[in-house]
Amino acid sequence: MPDEQRPRRRASVRPNAVGAAVVALAADRSDRLGRPLEVLDLGGGTGGVAVALGEAGHRVTVVDPSPDALAALTRRARESGIEGLVTGVQGDGDSLAEVLDGRVVDLACCHGTLEFVDDPETTLRAVAAALAPGGVLSLLVSGRLAVVFAKALAGEFDQARSALRHPSGRWGPTDPLPRRFDPDEVEALLARTGFTVEQSRGIDVLRHLVPAPLVDSEGDRAAVAELDELLVEVAGSELLRILGHGLHVVARRD
Ligand SMILES: C[S@@+](CC[C@H](N)C(=O)[O-])C[C@H]1O[C@@H](n2cnc3c(N)ncnc32)[C@H](O)[C@@H]1O
Repeated sequence: MPDEQRPRRRASVRPNAVGAAVVALAADRSDRLGRPLEVLDLGGGTGGVAVALGEAGHRVTVVDPSPDALAALTRRARESGIEGLVTGVQGDGDSLAEVLDGRVVDLACCHGTLEFVDDPETTLRAVAAALAPGGVLSLLVSGRLAVVFAKALAGEFDQARSALRHPSGRWGPTDPLPRRFDPDEVEALLARTGFTVEQSRGIDVLRHLVPAPLVDSEGDRAAVAELDELLVEVAGSELLRILGHGLHVVARRD
């Protein structure tokens, strides 16, 4: 691609494993298309992924209902010098057609959002409609079994049982997450809404399992993070897919 179109790659805050994977996915897609990408980040919040993608030269539209998150996103984009590439719009899955106004995107991110929407299937259909044919979805959802294990290992046996039995994987009425997912459920949902799953991996297994009092120094935190990264390298393991605190799925719009 011509140099002026080649996405800029600038040093940023070290992205987390999913952020780094999405930036790499975008670079690959961009090289294939020969231009920077149009990206939708639904529920993009304060822009952890959006700013990293903007710094790589892609044009990102973040749709999120929270004005506070969008204000933080705008501030971060300005501080990174990419306010022209990252746009925040207040809205949700229902607003996508209006926000995009006939445009389609090459990549859609939906990270930590499906837990909060009214109906995940309706939201995924709206995301599919926003994607160009062959466009890519990066979906990150919270896993049910991770919280069951974490609660049981912390001695919270009633909460562990609730998370296991509750239809939405909630551990109790004060659980901040409205919904968690099982891997097979996510993949069935994606198949119903017009996606083909290309990659599905569990992330952050140990960070949420090791009881907090056992991780009391920077060295411990670094050791657990390193172990989690090593576990991610063996992605494809069914154990990780099921036990990950997060399930990261890359799917292609049919
Ligand atoms: C856990 S945060 C995730 C933020 C960001 N995607 C990330 O990975 O750091 C969930 C985000 O979803 C947004 N949200 C809540 N309900 C939503 C909805 N119905 N549609 C779109 N986004 C929603 C929240 O405002 C919040 O920014």
